This record gives sequence, structure tokens and C-alpha cells, in this order.
Amino acid sequence: MASTIPDEMLGPAPTSGSHGPSVFADVVQAPEDPILGVTVAYNKDPSPVKVNLGVGAYRTEEGKPLVLNVVRRAEQMLVNDGSRVKEYLPITGLADFNKLSAKLIFGVDSPAIQEKRVTTVQCLSGTGSLRVGAEFLARHYHQRTIYIPLPTWGNHPKVFALAGLFVKTYRYYDPATRGLNFQGLLEDLSAAPSGAIVLLHACAHNPTGVDPTFEQWEQIRQLMRSKTLLPFFDSAYQGFASGNLDADAQSVRLFVEDGGELLAAQSYAKNMGLYGERVGALSIVCKTADVATKVESQLKLVIRPMYSSPPIHGASIVATILKDREMYHEWTIELKAMADRIISMRHQLFEALRAKGTPGDWTHIIKQIGMFTFTGLNTEQVAFMTKEYHIYMTSDGRISMAGLSSKTIPHLADAIHEAITCVN
Ligand SMILES: Cc1ncc(COP(=O)(O)O)c(C=O)c1O
Repeated sequence: MASTIPDEMLGPAPTSGSHGPSVFADVVQAPEDPILGVTVAYNKDPSPVKVNLGVGAYRTEEGKPLVLNVVRRAEQMLVNDGSRVKEYLPITGLADFNKLSAKLIFGVDSPAIQEKRVTTVQCLSGTGSLRVGAEFLARHYHQRTIYIPLPTWGNHPKVFALAGLFVKTYRYYDPATRGLNFQGLLEDLSAAPSGAIVLLHACAHNPTGVDPTFEQWEQIRQLMRSKTLLPFFDSAYQGFASGNLDADAQSVRLFVEDGGELLAAQSYAKNMGLYGERVGALSIVCKTADVATKVESQLKLVIRPMYSSPPIHGASIVATILKDREMYHEWTIELKAMADRIISMRHQLFEALRAKGTPGDWTHIIKQIGMFTFTGLNTEQVAFMTKEYHIYMTSDGRISMAGLSSKTIPHLADAIHEAITCVN
């Protein structure tokens, strides 16, 4: 169609602007994200037997994503409520959501909440909560070194480094026992400079599935408080590990009970299945209400230029469920069912390997907790399983138990058996 705009308004005829090389010609191709890239490769594989055990997202026995019934109900209620509008939320998010999220993680009777020593801001899921917390620390905390466990979720070092923190590691996992390297952890935290920030997975450590016992948590707490190390809890799996929301928050509550300060990032991705809604919260527990108020004022200055204010829909779903007794109860039942299915997958895989006589001790499959099993398979064995069996997982040997079903377990057991016996 001919242009109706007069020539003189179009300016000079394009020269190199449209014909020359791209101004972005020097941009190099970036590698895929190590975790999300697994799904990209999986999607390209035409095999009918392919299984995706890479990404940490819950699947049903039929291998389908799950929207919780209670979430559907909450959404329906929101849609039916004609008084609801789409105005901007405040910078700190939905007030009800923030209050209820703090109670969920710290406990309904938490003295810290009653004393108004906690500030909670709604953020973009767990990642966004970590990022806002990291930005705040980089600007307002005197120590800019953060210790993260080795190994940890692959995004942790990137989130903290980008915020301007210096990232160091502490020993966490012992490949020989496939359990916690508690001695190494204590030594490394003892050697950390006073005041350093320490990232702790509240429960269901990703990728290892190995958590400290309650007694070990208590020892970690004593050591950290004696050295004034600042805890930053990442709680991405509350309720998803044991099936019990309170049990999975024990570690965090232990540190709040002593009256000390800490940060906690919460995600509703896994425990409410709200992955794509990006709902989470950052809480900072302070010594006094006055400090908490000032901290919140600075959090607003972090958030405003980053994304202005958070989205309304997901947080409204969470608030609807958390404030209604009956809906809350329904949620806990659905949550427990997800956790139980994962635990049952652990037992089935363990039994399948035992029945096949696969060499090695596989008890870690049933000892580890949460969404993932850190199998101990090496990079070559993982590559073999992907090539020969179309099983997709991260190259560190981590498998998402939530992606398995009774139907796919025999296929996985065959693949592990052959990888262990044929590939070193
Ligand atoms: C340990 C850990 N922290 C944080 C997250 C953040 O998840 P999201 O940003 O989807 O809430 C994840 C997700 O896999 C995780 O495993």
C-alpha cells in the first residue's frame, strides 16, 4: 500500500541505517541457561519416550503440569468480584499478602511480627526477592561478601554478583557420603570475616536434597550469631519438602527466636504451583520497629527504579487462600499430596534400582528431601542417558523427582543401570 505520509515528513532517504551491517553485529551468541537450556533441548527431541527431569516444576502422574484446585477456586472468586480493579499496587505490593506471607514463614504467633520488627515486601517470586534483598544489602550493609553453599542453585551466584556483592562459597555437600559436609561447613563459616552474609536454603536444599538436622541447624545458628554472620534464607520449597509448612520453616524460625536479624526470600512457585505468576516476598527481620520502618523506606527506593511495583494477580490469589481458613486447609492437603507423590517416586526409583541389582549404594535417593535427587551420576553418564534414553537432566546429575511417574521410572532405572555399568 502506498504511504499517505508526505515525502517531506519522512526525512532523507535511508542510507546505511537500513542497508549497512547491524549495530549489534558484534553481540556474541550467549550460552543457554544451564537449567532452562535442558528444556530447550528436550523440546527439540522428537522421541516419544523422552523425559524431562531438568526443570524443577511439579508434574502429575500423567506427566502434566498441575494447577491446584484451591488456586482455581481463588481465581474464580477474584474474577466474580466485580469490585476488583486493576490499579497499581503500592511499591511494596499487596499489604494483606505481605502480612500473611510473614506469618506463613515466621509463624502466626511470631513475636518479631507482633513487635513490628519485620518488614515484608512483595517481589517477583523467589528470584526477585533474592535480588531485591541483595540490592538492599549492597547499598546499606557494611559487609559485601556473601557465602553461598557449594553446590547451590545455579542462579544464586549470578543474582548476588549482579547486585554488587562478592560471592564466596562454603563447603556443603560431601560426594563421598552423598550427605552434608557438616565439618567443612562449620570450618568455612568459622573462617568467614565477621559480619559476612551467609545464604542458607531454608529446606530442601537445591540441588543436593540434603538438609542439616535440627541439631545441626542449632549449631550453625550458634556459630553464625557468635561471629555476627548475617543469615539470608532462601525459602523456595516451604511445605514442599516434608508436606508440612511449619516443619519446613523450622530452620528460619530458630534464627528468628533468638532476636537476631536476618533476611528471608519466599517463593510461591512450587508450594502453590504459581510458577509463572511470579509471586514471592522478601522479609527483613530487624532488631527494632524503628529500624524496620527505615529499612522498608529504603527497600522502596530499591524497587521503584527496578520495576516500580509488583503484579497484582498472583499475590491476590495467595492472599485469598491464606486468609480463608477453609481454603488454607484445602491448600495444605493439596500441598501434602504433591510432597507425598515425590516421596513415593523416591521409593519407587530406589526399589527399581535395587531390583535390577544396579551397582552402588542408592539409599541417598530415599534419604534426600525435596524436589531433587543429586544422583551422583557424572557428566559423561548424564550425556549417555540423554543420547541413548532421551532422559534430560542437568549435567551435575540432578534429577527432578517431581517430573517422574510410575510409568517413566522403569525407563529411568534402565538408563541409570546402563550408565553406571557401561560409562565411567
Ligand atoms: C533454591 C531456589 N531458590 C530460588 C528459586 C527461585 O524460584 P522462583 O523465582 O521461580 O520463585 C528456586 C527455583 O528453582 C530455587 O530452587
